[in-house]
Amino acid sequence: MSTSRTSMHGEWSGRFAFILAATGSAVGLGNIWKFPYITGENGGGAFVLVYLICIACIGIPIMMAEVMLGRRGRQSPINTMRDLAEEVGASKHWKYLGWAGVIAGLLILSYYSVIAGWALAYVFRTASGVFTNVTGDGASSLFSRFVADPEKLLAWHTIFMVMTMAVVARGVKGGLEKAVRFLMPTLFVILIILLGYAMNLGEFSRGVVFLFNPDFSKISASGVLTAMGHAFFTLSLGMGAIMVYGSYLPKNVSIAKTSIIIALMDTLVALVAGLIIFPIVFANGLEPGSGPGLIFQTLPIAFGHMPGGTFFGTLFFILLVFAAWTSSISLIEPAVAWLVENRGHTRIYAAVIMGVVTWLLGLLTILSFNLWSDFKPLSSISAFENSTIFDLLDYLTANIMLPIGGLLIAVFAGWVMKRETTMQELSINDVMHKGYRAWQILVRYVAPAAVVIVFLKVTGIFDIATIFEAIFG
Ligand code: PHE
Repeated sequence: MSTSRTSMHGEWSGRFAFILAATGSAVGLGNIWKFPYITGENGGGAFVLVYLICIACIGIPIMMAEVMLGRRGRQSPINTMRDLAEEVGASKHWKYLGWAGVIAGLLILSYYSVIAGWALAYVFRTASGVFTNVTGDGASSLFSRFVADPEKLLAWHTIFMVMTMAVVARGVKGGLEKAVRFLMPTLFVILIILLGYAMNLGEFSRGVVFLFNPDFSKISASGVLTAMGHAFFTLSLGMGAIMVYGSYLPKNVSIAKTSIIIALMDTLVALVAGLIIFPIVFANGLEPGSGPGLIFQTLPIAFGHMPGGTFFGTLFFILLVFAAWTSSISLIEPAVAWLVENRGHTRIYAAVIMGVVTWLLGLLTILSFNLWSDFKPLSSISAFENSTIFDLLDYLTANIMLPIGGLLIAVFAGWVMKRETTMQELSINDVMHKGYRAWQILVRYVAPAAVVIVFLKVTGIFDIATIFEAIFG
């Protein structure tokens, strides 16, 4: 049994670099674009509470499991799963978990890149001053006209995919570490400035109540699934991104501590984003449930009215692009690492192949907002009556593929791997026995059961909403 594999792709320079890279992967459009709009669509507080519970009880333990598997296997998720399964004499089929992750990553990146393209476009729009003194209606109509134009969306999507390929082609250390080191702190500063603006809006307390006052009548079973799915999405779990980053992690770093830090930072960014956006929504009579365009319709109003708004607005969208960029590279890295390992391609060639595949898939999302906006492939199923291809892709990946991937990772770490192995990987440094036991209970029982129960409930077999109401009601 080997415990001393090394990664052919290199290593992070240390604990801090890993925290930055993994936080860079976690903090992205999920926090600033997706979290506010799905919270708005699902009624606020109750949704946020379920999301927070999922982060704590499912997300953190699974993140530890994923980092651990990665560091133990030291390869792309496909080969890591194959070798770790072989190490304990388990089925070779575990490698398909790696495959499912690679596919989920490419599917997610295909729409992620389109939305990141919107953020890119908004850098230039904000800088040009079009939002100065803009009204709520004005911002909404600018947004609608923008997404109605497939050529524009295609151009921005293409630029973003090229940016992603360029970094991935350069490898683990080249540039990425340095970029996140500067970006993450700056993003925080801008968020605080925006928070200051939102706090002075008069509708701030309404925003706080909306986010933190749970009203369980407003959340449905599918809302619970969305909250759980988002916990995986926002922490980059269930598809191998964190696993592959873990495979570049030096041996002596504490997995538990770093995972908790990453999850806390990610959650903080999401909550602050919500505290910025909802007061603006309420102060301008906008609709919290207005969907994927929410931040593109609300934030320009803030920037259009605050002193220095053009400057701060431009900076904000630049940072959003960077946050998306540091996530997108982790979405494609498992696929690229596999091509390099198994096909002997150079990183550049591998990045280009995977990039082109993803770029093509992105066309489906682009068309969902304009030419194909009336195309609802699953409209015969009532839950998907109004779902465009983009909605379906998002649902399939975030609500189905990531939770199932996470469930299987938890089962593998909790049940298939040897206790001595997991103890050894997790106890390095300072994690004590009780902590290990708690983690083991979470990955063995709590996380798998939670995922299964939520799935059963959504398919109508089991009523979890009543249970939640009974506990927190
Ligand atoms: N966590 C990223 C975000 O919140 C998205 C992501 C999902 C990245 C899955 C990698 C893997 O934007």
